[in-house]
Amino acid sequence: MQELIIKGPSKINGSIEISGSKNASLPILISTVLAKGSCVIGNVPNLRDTKFLISILKNLGCKINFKNNVVAIHSSNISKKIADYDYVRQMRASIVLLGPVIGRYSSFKIALPGGCAIGTRSIDLHLDALKKMGVKIKILNGYVVASRSGKSLTAINHRFPKISVGATQNIIMAATLASGTTVLKNCAIEPEVIDLINFLNKCGSKITVNKRVIKIAGKENLELSNHEIIPDRIEAGSYILATMATKGKLQIKNFLIEHLQEPINLFKKMGLKVKKINTNEYLFSCSRIKPINLIETKEYPGFPTDLQAQLISIFLKNGKKSKIKENIFENRFIHIPELRRFGADIVLKNNIVTIDKVSELNGAEVMATDLRGSFSLIIAALLSKGETIISRIYHLDRGYEDFDLKLKQCGVNIKRKK
Ligand code: UD1
Repeated sequence: MQELIIKGPSKINGSIEISGSKNASLPILISTVLAKGSCVIGNVPNLRDTKFLISILKNLGCKINFKNNVVAIHSSNISKKIADYDYVRQMRASIVLLGPVIGRYSSFKIALPGGCAIGTRSIDLHLDALKKMGVKIKILNGYVVASRSGKSLTAINHRFPKISVGATQNIIMAATLASGTTVLKNCAIEPEVIDLINFLNKCGSKITVNKRVIKIAGKENLELSNHEIIPDRIEAGSYILATMATKGKLQIKNFLIEHLQEPINLFKKMGLKVKKINTNEYLFSCSRIKPINLIETKEYPGFPTDLQAQLISIFLKNGKKSKIKENIFENRFIHIPELRRFGADIVLKNNIVTIDKVSELNGAEVMATDLRGSFSLIIAALLSKGETIISRIYHLDRGYEDFDLKLKQCGVNIKRKK
């Protein structure tokens, strides 16, 4: 298993180009099973998760070629209507296949995703809305067995009891081929959801968004169209936080700052300096961090849960009883025991993390446990004296394209040991 060796302390100082968004690429690639024809999707990050999804789609019968961040795809007909456990267990986002496949075909069987390191992550919101649309669902031998009769699904007027990115994407896709106009309330409106909608509209859908209400006029069929994936705001946010933590300087290219506006405004209050250099190009620097009393994770446009772990790390040497409250996932704290190995002073009570600064952190042997939590370990390693060894770095490879090369480019002493 590959390991990462980082020698600290180290400052971020250099320039990085942000990759395409992982969380936008996944549903957009999935949504191609809805439509006829071929298309080219650009700016797709070369990650474990995107490659994995491509292998799932190929297994279902799609023809796909992925090279130089471009996916050429022909999904006109999927020949296999089962997504096996071996695939689904490795990538929870595959549950988002259910809506589009059952929207286009009369049956589909997909393994139940199960729990994961950051919480139980149930799929009730996905299944309840699909049932309302006329899908018969049985849970059998660990699989969701879905079927429908009739020519298409039925449009619904539905309010999600809780905001969910995946359920919103799943039901939007199912509704594109339903009979009638679907109205979904209390939807997730993350930029990754909007990118999916933009792609579907290019393919002939008629989808509108008004605050958290999304209307989808069902069509008989859709035709694939080319698309460029938006930049990854979470990747950008992670590098910005690494810059703040190390009081460094970082030029970022290919970044849509409006996708991270609230967090950036907050970071500015904490001492981040932002200078626009060009379209989608910014210089970030920070010479001192002003601790903030309480930051809470919220749905977009609020502070993303996907930056919570990295935010904790910036307070390790700067926090004065700084508090971070996690509101989205009940158990997204698996990085905390690992951060303590560096000598961090962190207290977790219910869903609130309190961080007090320590004057010194020391390199340690730690384990990557989930995608975003693993980046918080990198930040801690940059702040620590001596060598840090991070094992199980496949978690980082799931979501940060060329992260070791990008960090090296910014002056970090980092090595991947194969
Ligand atoms: C997506 C993102 C993930 C991000 C999360 C929240 C992808 C591939 N992943 O995950 O990076 O952290 O949004 O922004 O885009 N829930 C239920 N029932 C359901 C579905 C969700 O109770 O049927 C709960 C979850 O357990 C969680 C909350 O709703 O507490 C939000 O989860 P959701 O927005 O669905 O996350 P994902 O789509 O899985």
